[in-house]
Amino acid sequence: MERSQQHYFTPAPDVAVTEHTITVELPDLELTLTTSSGVFSPKRLDPGTRVLLENAPPPPVDGDVLDLGCGYGPIALALAHRYPGRRVVAVDVNTRALDLARRNAVAAGLSAVDARPPEDVPADARFAAIYSNPPIRTGKQALHEMLLIWLARLLPAGRAYLVVQRNLGSDSLAGWLDQQGHPVRRICSRRGYRVLEVAGQ
Ligand SMILES: C[S@@+](CC[C@H](N)C(=O)[O-])C[C@H]1O[C@@H](n2cnc3c(N)ncnc32)[C@H](O)[C@@H]1O
Repeated sequence: MERSQQHYFTPAPDVAVTEHTITVELPDLELTLTTSSGVFSPKRLDPGTRVLLENAPPPPVDGDVLDLGCGYGPIALALAHRYPGRRVVAVDVNTRALDLARRNAVAAGLSAVDARPPEDVPADARFAAIYSNPPIRTGKQALHEMLLIWLARLLPAGRAYLVVQRNLGSDSLAGWLDQQGHPVRRICSRRGYRVLEVAGQ
């Protein structure tokens, strides 16, 4: 693939690796994270991810949690800090992002974070909650397929928490999820982002 056609969701970006260290301050915790060129939002915590981490509730039931599209791992690491004792599965198609998420978890001493490609998660794995800043820019079809696969893996009474920019179609995504049999509740609307709570079927 031409470099000019590559995106943060390219499986193995061949843009040169330039690493950065960022500090993420949240109301309840601070994370120091290594990021890199070729992954999503390497210079600062994405503002949508911040809205999700500041507003999403704890998992509603016992069990493992999933960070869907983990990037360099800010959501996975925050979950592992907040909910000790739970395994945090972090998946991404971008191998550079997965490597960073693993390294960041090790550096933070968060052994509960298990970062792996989506296809390495057993099909019978079930999750108490899914937290995601989903890859809207992959296109509607790929996004919809991805969401249906993982929402089907929620435990009964499990919930997914998705942050989506209003300008990038949060309301139409909510409508589509409802039509697919996944009831949606809007948890908050802040700084141009909505956090959606999505039920399984
Ligand atoms: C908007 S970014 C969010 C990254 C990170 N969670 C954050 O908040 O900084 C979405 C991520 O989803 C990943 N992604 C794209 N398609 C995917 C798929 N089918 N399965 C899992 N992850 C995917 C991208 O590589 C990207 O890292």
